[in-house]
Amino acid sequence: MTDTLDIKITKTQHSRLAETDFSNLPFGKVFSDHMFVADYADGEWKNFEILPYGPILMSPAISALHYGQSFFEGIKAYKHADGTVSIFRPDKNAIRFNKSAERLCMPTLPEEVFVQSIAALVDIDREWIPGKANHALYIRPFMFATDPFLGVTPSATYKFIVIIGPTGPYFSKALRVKIETHFTRAAEGGMGFAKAAGNYGSAMLPARKAAQEGFDQLIWTDAKEHKYVEEMGAANAMFLLDGKLITAEAKDTILDGVTRDTVIALAKDWGIPVEERKVSVAELIEGAKNGKLTDAFGAGTAATIAPVGSISVDGEEYPLSDPATRAFSQKVLSTLDAIKYGRAEDTHGWNYI
Ligand code: COI
Repeated sequence: MTDTLDIKITKTQHSRLAETDFSNLPFGKVFSDHMFVADYADGEWKNFEILPYGPILMSPAISALHYGQSFFEGIKAYKHADGTVSIFRPDKNAIRFNKSAERLCMPTLPEEVFVQSIAALVDIDREWIPGKANHALYIRPFMFATDPFLGVTPSATYKFIVIIGPTGPYFSKALRVKIETHFTRAAEGGMGFAKAAGNYGSAMLPARKAAQEGFDQLIWTDAKEHKYVEEMGAANAMFLLDGKLITAEAKDTILDGVTRDTVIALAKDWGIPVEERKVSVAELIEGAKNGKLTDAFGAGTAATIAPVGSISVDGEEYPLSDPATRAFSQKVLSTLDAIKYGRAEDTHGWNYI
């Protein structure tokens, strides 16, 4: 850690806290009173500021809007029973944030600036953290290009902003998932590993088509052959097959998910073999048929551990076991919750207090 950040703070005159319905917190709709904003210009980050949450003025020519120099992160903060507030593994997100920045030809942000800006904002709006099970404060840091210039070239100026808001679970039921064998999310050499805004935009049409067919989510497959599974919607896809935790290797096309990494660490703690490798659609279907696929879920910050209820491919649907009976993901969920809400010892040092 270097010196603490010099942040200009302007507090809101009208907190929206009292008028916010904490019994109804759909993901991503409710935002706290403040936001953090910083500017990049002349080769450095400056103007660190926390100010009331609200619209920002931008030129319609900013290159983020035209050419997609824009990416984000997702993190959560939790309130413990004794009032302690912890942020889950923000250092991991800081590393991934900079990987995204580099891939999109954007400036990196020192890890301590990333973490301290988030911590300062969370501290100011700590009353916004829900104290309920399965609820947390969702933290959305993002960066985008602000040069008002239509030339297709990296911007010289950027904004880094953090917005936060209380949220409940992203998914409310076991997911009916379709294996996507036509559209592609990411190809080798592309930017699948980055949290680029464009990765999410390009996923919307395939996701909508799947929804029209009655599916909740897609499992993406590799761009070349559509034979190997990659991510599940906006989360990493993880499986317990024949007693082993298997998931696609976090390479070019796969996000190096923080929840993914956390689940892998827990599995290793528990002596469960972990394989990060190509996972074929054929072996999953075989496992669904012969009962060796005992667990399947999406792992993500927003999604947490989102159980897959059934997997469909080429018009055939393969139901999986009742999520309530799945020993592995149930144990992951309860262990993670205990750590995040401060009820269990944080042996890995995952909580940033
Ligand atoms: C997150 O899990 O934080 C994500 O980034 C997924 C989001 C796109 C809903």
